[in-house]
Formats: sequence, structure tokens, C-alpha cells
Amino acid sequence: MIVALNNKSNLNIEEYKKYVEELSKIYFRGKLILCPNYLNLTEKVDILLGAQNVSPYTEGAHTGEIAASQLSAIGVKYSIVGHSERRSIESESEIFDKIKRLLENGMSPILCVGEKQNEREKGATKAVLGKQLSSVVNYLTENERSNVIVAYEPVWAIGTGLIPTNEEINEAISFIKTKLPNNKVLYGGSANEENIDTLKEVEVIDGYLVGGLSLKPDKLQIFLDKLS
Ligand code: PGA
Repeated sequence: MIVALNNKSNLNIEEYKKYVEELSKIYFRGKLILCPNYLNLTEKVDILLGAQNVSPYTEGAHTGEIAASQLSAIGVKYSIVGHSERRSIESESEIFDKIKRLLENGMSPILCVGEKQNEREKGATKAVLGKQLSSVVNYLTENERSNVIVAYEPVWAIGTGLIPTNEEINEAISFIKTKLPNNKVLYGGSANEENIDTLKEVEVIDGYLVGGLSLKPDKLQIFLDKLS
């Protein structure tokens, strides 16, 4: 079981130092991946690290970008790509370029996919997921593909407290697994220490990507205890 913690644009360095002290007391038998903001990534911690974003380019004249090689050089093994909070300013080809840069540097992309509310209402969920997965399915080698983690995050469930039914999650993740049968698929979107009792009944979920919960170590521990 994988649990990835997306701190988003939270925690300045002083706050982060206190936070990781709390986090270091957490017990989890599975794999915990901490994705802090770029600045906090440079702080030494005894936990697997992921970035929240990465440059689509290799290093060079790209002002403001952080290259996969630079993340890798400080020990970062993962990066979220295609998060819905970024997708509005990113094209599918840019997201795919980011995935390629990560793989070239021996890192694992955590590729976020998910439909918006109106897309679900139109019955377009699978079409949206299929489109968001198509480059990984069509243009990566089997070997490259094996390093990709997918996070199914319905956009309308992120940070809203709304959550799909178990049937809806099962249907979406099972669909993803028809395209990528050998990949881990996480669920993300308002997962917390209360709804985990229900969520964990969905057998196709291989782990979770949590935002709000990542900032509350005490509640996170309850969540992780219920998972094990
Ligand atoms: P949330 O965020 O858990 O706060 O809904 C999840 C995410 O955006 O990855």
C-alpha cells in the first residue's frame, strides 16, 4: 500500500521542520511518499520524497523551471504530474514530456487523472480518463510504463469533502487497470481518517494521494492505522 502526501503550497521552512518532526513519529507498514513544496524538498528527512511538479525540459535555459535531474540529485524519487490544480495551464504533451524527463532520470511519475463534475454528469468519465492515459499507454515501452504510478482523482472530490461512491471509484480504477494492468493506482480526493473505513472496501485501490490530510499528522496516523 502506497500513501503519497501532497503538501501543496503549504508550510514555510520553520513550519515544515516542526511538521517533519511529527511525521517522523508516524508508523506505517506501507510506503509513505512525502511531496512538500520545492524549497522544503531540500530539508533532510528520513522518508521517501516526491516533488509536486517537474520541468518538461532537461536542464538549461528555462527560467523558473526545476529539472528532473536536479530533483534526482537531491534524492527525490517521485514527482506528481498532471495534478488537476495544474492541468488548466498544461497540455497533455507537456505532461507527457514531464513523465519522460522523470523516467530518463530513474524517477517515478505519479500521474494524476480524473474527470470534472460536468464530465461525470455527461457520462464522459471513461473518455476523459482514456485521453489522459493515452500517451502513457501508447508511447512508453513496457519497461518505462512499469515505473508509472497513477492517481485517480476526480476533480470535484479534491479538497471539497465530496467523495465518489465505492462503486464509482471501483468502476473508474478498474477502467484504468484495463489500460494499465500492471500499474499501481491510487485514489485521491478528500480521503480522510473518517471515510477510509468505507474507501478501504474498494479492493482495486492500491493506495492514496492525500492533500488536506497530509498536513495533520495525528489524523494521518489514524488513517494509516485503519489501512494496515
Ligand atoms: P485532498 O487533495 O486530499 O485535500 O482532497 C488531494 C490532492 O489534491 O491530491
